[in-house]
Amino acid sequence: MIAPSILSADFARLADEAAAVTGVPGRGADWLHVDVMDGHFVPNLTLGLPVVESLLRATPLPLDCHLMIDDPDRWAVGYAEAGAHNVTVHVEAARDPVALAKDLQAAGALAGLSVKPGTPLEPHVETLRHYDTLLVMSVEPGFGGQRFMPEVLDKVRTARRLVDTGHLKVLVEIDGGINADTIEAAAEAGVDCFVAGSAVYGADEPAAAVAALREQVVAATPARDWAGAAR
Ligand code: DX5
Ligand code: ZN
Repeated sequence: MIAPSILSADFARLADEAAAVTGVPGRGADWLHVDVMDGHFVPNLTLGLPVVESLLRATPLPLDCHLMIDDPDRWAVGYAEAGAHNVTVHVEAARDPVALAKDLQAAGALAGLSVKPGTPLEPHVETLRHYDTLLVMSVEPGFGGQRFMPEVLDKVRTARRLVDTGHLKVLVEIDGGINADTIEAAAEAGVDCFVAGSAVYGADEPAAAVAALREQVVAATPARDWAGAAR
């Protein structure tokens, strides 16, 4: 799955920017990644629930909301209730991540848990048993266009192993610095869903960039059954 991040899009034209990656079903973007930043958990400020509500009306793409905010226990469920497909909170910010996962799921969304590059996976494996998606950050959260940190791929490999052996059921997502130079290593490590901001919206043709990234993933992982993978 490819999830373009609208952080690198033109915020005054979000409906058009979503349409630019929608494409033919199964060929364009799978999810649209929406970075919510509060200026506290990360030193940058983007958008919040009113913009997400408008986007939900403006695009058929499932919204993958990545909440880089303090106190997600208070705010995250609103995104699920609004209709976001996947709502991801940071384990570093959540007070009661297990209760939060249940609340997100009860509101009809997938529940996602994200780890910053310096946050280890092991202490959170039991928590992840309650989650649907794991978002491994491959840059320090806050800004698009940063350099990919290959050392986080160890966490991807660990998560892949836990999923493949039946210990976890999460979909493994990666976010930060994903482009034509880095996506194959991420695919080989076992990522299911690739977030890409500047590599998609910085391209002349965003839809073509999505298609090219997808082709690279498929070519780099001949042993994986992508056609049978759940979306
Ligand atoms: C960064 C955001 C990312 C960002 C990725 O904190 O979470 O989703 O949009 O941008 P690129 O793909 O340019 O690194
Ligand atoms: Zn993100």
